[in-house]
Amino acid sequence: MIPEEKVREVAERLSIVEVVSEYVQLRRSGGNFLGLCPFHGEKTPSFNVNPAREIFHCFGCGAGGNAFSFVMKMEGVSFPEAVKLLARKAGVEIEERQLTQAEKKDQDERQQFQNINELAAGYYRSILKNGQDGAPARQYLLQRTVGDEISEAYRLGFASDRRDGLVRHLANNSVDLDAALKLGIIRKGDSGWYDLFRNRLIFPIRDSKGLVIAFAGRVLDASLPKYINSPESPVYHKSSVLFGLDMALPTIRAKNSIIIVEGYFDHLALFRAGIRNVVATCGTALTATHAGQIKRHAEQVHMLFDSDNAGKKASIRSMELFLEQHMPAYVISLPPGDDPDSFLSKNPVEAFYERQNKARPAFDFFVKSLLAETPPENVDSKVRIIDEIVPRFRKISDPVERDLYEKEICRLLGITTHAFRKRMGGMGLTVKESRADSNKKTERWDNSQETLLALVINYPEAREEALKTGVDILFTGDYLELAILVTDTMAQTDDSQALSHLTDRIENPEQRKILSRIMVSDAFLADIDWRNVFEQCSRSSEKKALGSIKDIAARLAVLDENSEEYSLLLKQADTLRKRKSEL
Ligand code: GTP
Ligand code: MN
Repeated sequence: MIPEEKVREVAERLSIVEVVSEYVQLRRSGGNFLGLCPFHGEKTPSFNVNPAREIFHCFGCGAGGNAFSFVMKMEGVSFPEAVKLLARKAGVEIEERQLTQAEKKDQDERQQFQNINELAAGYYRSILKNGQDGAPARQYLLQRTVGDEISEAYRLGFASDRRDGLVRHLANNSVDLDAALKLGIIRKGDSGWYDLFRNRLIFPIRDSKGLVIAFAGRVLDASLPKYINSPESPVYHKSSVLFGLDMALPTIRAKNSIIIVEGYFDHLALFRAGIRNVVATCGTALTATHAGQIKRHAEQVHMLFDSDNAGKKASIRSMELFLEQHMPAYVISLPPGDDPDSFLSKNPVEAFYERQNKARPAFDFFVKSLLAETPPENVDSKVRIIDEIVPRFRKISDPVERDLYEKEICRLLGITTHAFRKRMGGMGLTVKESRADSNKKTERWDNSQETLLALVINYPEAREEALKTGVDILFTGDYLELAILVTDTMAQTDDSQALSHLTDRIENPEQRKILSRIMVSDAFLADIDWRNVFEQCSRSSEKKALGSIKDIAARLAVLDENSEEYSLLLKQADTLRKRKSEL
């Protein structure tokens, strides 16, 4: 843990312009600095840095925050790591808070696991590189055209066909075997310790920083099981690990896009072809945790699965997870019978890029494959198709996309949108809900709320006025939550950088985006008649709010009564009603 004062000290010693300039060429433009955004490809600059507020915001991709968030995103590191990195630059010495006994024990254990995994990876690697036992694996890699450079990049290894090769190696290096047992790479039986992996090609599995946390072992022939993986352990949770992420991060950042594959060898084949923004799951289906991680690293995702039925199923299941994350997902399809590895060994990489350019939106892919599987020939099959589509359709958050798909589906099935909506209503979605959803979306950029919040930030008098009127009357949704946070923060401190630090603590990306956007673009509010603007905006904001009581009621009707959103909305509706009766 880094003490809060130290974080402040680092922030005070460095200017955000100085920090960002190491990565982005900036030029002054009014009160801001302007440059090409490093987080998405662009030709005209929309990346703004505001030195007075110590904040950056990109109007292109919405990325925003302070110097720490910038370094976190740029270097792919955690908050404490970003602070340490900048502390070094600023010449601030950080001694961390003393660890508690439990934390210390935990840290020591992690270090020990780290050491064991490193030893094991080195052991397997040396057998593959030059051990006598490694000959069959070297032969195998030759046959799969995996050269030394690729083998080195993955730190491939080989577990020879011995009962306790790794056990002995660990023992010779004075490793506590009971700790290695917790990692599952060795086991204890009636006749002593033995290795998990035997006669298998070894893929070390690394975390995003490149530390080995587990292993996967592939047989060299057609025997089964094809792969064995390290079991779950204190350092390895397969539902959250993305294989190859450490190698992919720089390219993911440059392209702002990720490709997911299913197999270790698929990952390797793409890497060999020079396609580097790729990750694979480790022998499991994609999980919500994976999808969340992917979303944190890139704006869009391409799924590249085998062209068989299992691959199709995986694409559809993954699509649902990305719909839930509101993340644009595409499916790259390969010719029947091909997987990424076989495709790239037969075709030049351009052929792959061509397919990637033709990738279809995942939902579109889903609808088309459903129709191919169940032709909509009669009423019965149409009903079955709709029932498959509806629960997924509900997860599409963008109202425009929703509208287009609705039309497309109805056209393909030869039904009216009225019938489709009716069926949806019957399956738990009312048309009202879809309207409330789209309201929520458009509410995301609300000019009057945005200006009001900017006034609150810029003028202490405006803040008082807002508190007097009631923030829950002036603001709704993300703006309301932000207004509460901002007024609370400003009430507690008069530190001019407090709001810049606040961006680190806001978990909701949409709210972070709004705050950084306001803070780099509110210069026009200097020297204005704040009261005049405030009144205009609050009138318009209130009018809109009053009109929205109906929408709130519609939304309440479909929400769980115990949810937080329900009680928030209920309060809001109450306040609005009171207000209306006063007017
Ligand atoms: P090649 O067939 O050699 O190209 O390997 P691959 O890595 O492409 O494997 P495949 O396409 O058969 O399977 C995709 C992924 O599923 C693998 O990389 C593994 O993560 C996982 N997998 C496949 N078979 C097994 C198995 O028998 N056990 C386990 N635990 N996972 C497997
Ligand atoms: Mn494969």
